[in-house]
Amino acid sequence: MDYILGIETSCDETAAAVVDTRGVVHSNVIATQIDTHKAYGGVIPEIASRMHVEAINAVIEQALQEAAKNMGDISALAVTQGPGLLGALLIGLQAAKTLAYIHQKPLIAVNHLEGHIFANFISMAPQEKMDIPYPFLCLLVSGGHTQLIISAKPGQYQTVGQTIDDAAGEAYDKVARILKLGYPGGPLVDRLAQDGASGTISFSKARLRAPESKFDFSFSGLKTNVLNYCRRNPAARPADVCAAFQKTVAETLTEHTLSAAQKYSSEHIYLAGGVAANQGLRRTLGAAGQAQGRQIHFPPPALCTDNAAMIAGAALAKWQSKNFAPLNISALPNWELPSQQAKLP
Ligand code: KG4
Ligand code: ZN
Repeated sequence: MDYILGIETSCDETAAAVVDTRGVVHSNVIATQIDTHKAYGGVIPEIASRMHVEAINAVIEQALQEAAKNMGDISALAVTQGPGLLGALLIGLQAAKTLAYIHQKPLIAVNHLEGHIFANFISMAPQEKMDIPYPFLCLLVSGGHTQLIISAKPGQYQTVGQTIDDAAGEAYDKVARILKLGYPGGPLVDRLAQDGASGTISFSKARLRAPESKFDFSFSGLKTNVLNYCRRNPAARPADVCAAFQKTVAETLTEHTLSAAQKYSSEHIYLAGGVAANQGLRRTLGAAGQAQGRQIHFPPPALCTDNAAMIAGAALAKWQSKNFAPLNISALPNWELPSQQAKLP
């Protein structure tokens, strides 16, 4: 059995994990910086880099220990090359390159977004290899991204819709700031929304008119609507505002995702990214998708937000095809998955 050591430092989590080449997770260690960034209401890049430097060695050590492995048992290093914060990415890359050099192991460069998608496939029932039903549609919703992606075969991705302004997670964080709930806002709004009555307030959904924008999203108008509503109605119950906001986001994401699934004949729909942990979205998309006979898959909540097991999982195809990276690679802070232009199958 081969084992991959994954390393992830693209934002505010220092993470390392050991995953075997069937996709089984043996350890998944995350040192979160959230408590530090909370004081500033968002991630401060310089602080993030410094905290990654301080944590990275201990996190890697713990991941090996929890998996009962040492570097001799590891077959390759997988590391997030981008997208993400430049300084933060460089710390994980340097750690992975150093270990690869000292222990003479191959290095695999992983796209963070592909990692989020693979959170769905790791830890499936242990089998010979991960059984991924291509082609599939993925709704990737995180703090920096909101996009619909079609994957027809391993390593091939096409973005068929994306946000034209704020990402869904960003909208959650901004609404939490308006309501003074804290940071990161997504889980707090999600929790409060469970106590709210979504019928008492109604926020309209953004409609993009251009035909080529059919699957695109816009969340900045919704965030402004929430701000204006709260200014005009200072006595409004925050739980009701959260419930109404969450309902609008969940319904928008669900409608676009299901129309894309219909257009691209995708039976399987996967959710990925931090917002995939959202209870409202899981319920709304789960029910509407099932009613249309589609199979909706969600990663376990702990694998939705940033972690290194998903990075090691996304590296497995490259491991099998020996698609290794040289030790002089640098970070790619803007490394996006391919967009519309590519031809669909
Ligand atoms: O994927 P992720 O950990 O980092 C990025 O790559 O961006 O996503 C973080 C985002 C944050 O905006 C956070 O507020 C949001 O995901 N998030 C949620 C929930 N849990 C995390 N949003 C809505 N509901 C949640 N339960
Ligand atoms: Zn992420």
